[in-house]
Amino acid sequence: MSSTPTPDAPTPDALKTELITAIGSAGDLAALEEVRVAALGKKGRVTTLMKALGQLDPETRKARGAELNQVKDEVAAALEARRGVLQDQALAARLAAEQIDITLPPRPETTGRLHPISQTIDELTAIFAEMGYVVAEGPDIEGDFYNFTALNMPPEHPARQMHDTFYLPDAPDGSQRVLRTHTSPVQVRTMLSQAPPIRIIAPGRTYRSDYDMTHTPMFHQVEGLVVDETTHMGHLKGCLIELCRAFFDVDDLPVRFRPSFFPFTEPSAEVDIGCKRGGGELKLGNYGDWLEILGCGMVHPKVLEMCGVDPTRYQGFAFGMGIERIAMLKYGIPDLRTFFEADLRWLRHYGFVPLDMPSMAQGLTW
Ligand code: PHE
Repeated sequence: MSSTPTPDAPTPDALKTELITAIGSAGDLAALEEVRVAALGKKGRVTTLMKALGQLDPETRKARGAELNQVKDEVAAALEARRGVLQDQALAARLAAEQIDITLPPRPETTGRLHPISQTIDELTAIFAEMGYVVAEGPDIEGDFYNFTALNMPPEHPARQMHDTFYLPDAPDGSQRVLRTHTSPVQVRTMLSQAPPIRIIAPGRTYRSDYDMTHTPMFHQVEGLVVDETTHMGHLKGCLIELCRAFFDVDDLPVRFRPSFFPFTEPSAEVDIGCKRGGGELKLGNYGDWLEILGCGMVHPKVLEMCGVDPTRYQGFAFGMGIERIAMLKYGIPDLRTFFEADLRWLRHYGFVPLDMPSMAQGLTW
């Protein structure tokens, strides 16, 4: 037999050279992994040679073992180095392939539109953000306590009847559940969960069992709540006058506060804005006629107390308004029911371009 190594049994040195060449020419991470398994895997060539050491006499084993260990270390180091290079290359290729030019204008074929309700909520949020309000939320399914009792409407209170409430089966603990009839329960949740000063708005869905030209069983409201040690009715007036003029974009829009009643505010008021009716049209401005758009008042001391806020130290105001109503007024949408018919032609007509976010600096609508 010749002592020349056969291709199957190269000298450790030749094997090392061969493996390192293979590592260098592995074109991607998968190919590199194949080389690793073929060399250092359980049945890999280096592993097999190491397993065979046991059959050698002690002297040869020692020398050969040291040699093989070195081969193994060098091959492992070469694999590691090559892996780094290939990973960098893969990342660079991916970055190049997934590159997008963010300076390109949106494609003309984006025809999706924002619903006027979403747009109106975005506009209100922009206006109130400027005044330092943050957005708060609450659940659509409410406990009777949050929707009524904590708002100074105990069971049997006559004001409850005006809410046309949808009642749900009792909660597991036996308490009454309802679909919230207004966003005012978010006042309760906010006061119970955070200490004053509080300055929030809470836009969201509300429900009442009513359906005609001007009522849908689901509609939207936005609630506002401010609680601190100094806020008074003057602040309430200033804030809401500013809101009306900013939202309707009429600088001299007349705003009137008319005495009213809500169980959870004292004193309470309804707010009217100036308008003119005629010829099937409604125009906003200083024309002598009035249109009611929201309810408000100073938070009732009993409500503060029920929500864990000390009424001898804190006070504040709250307001609530229907979002559909102000959207209809601002955008000339004649029929409330069309908001929820999901008619694409209607959405294309009354909808808004999604990327034009309302802001007080750049304008509410484009
Ligand atoms: N929750 C009242 C309603 O739905 C509106 C309101 C909110 C009035 C806050 C006063 C204060 O009619």
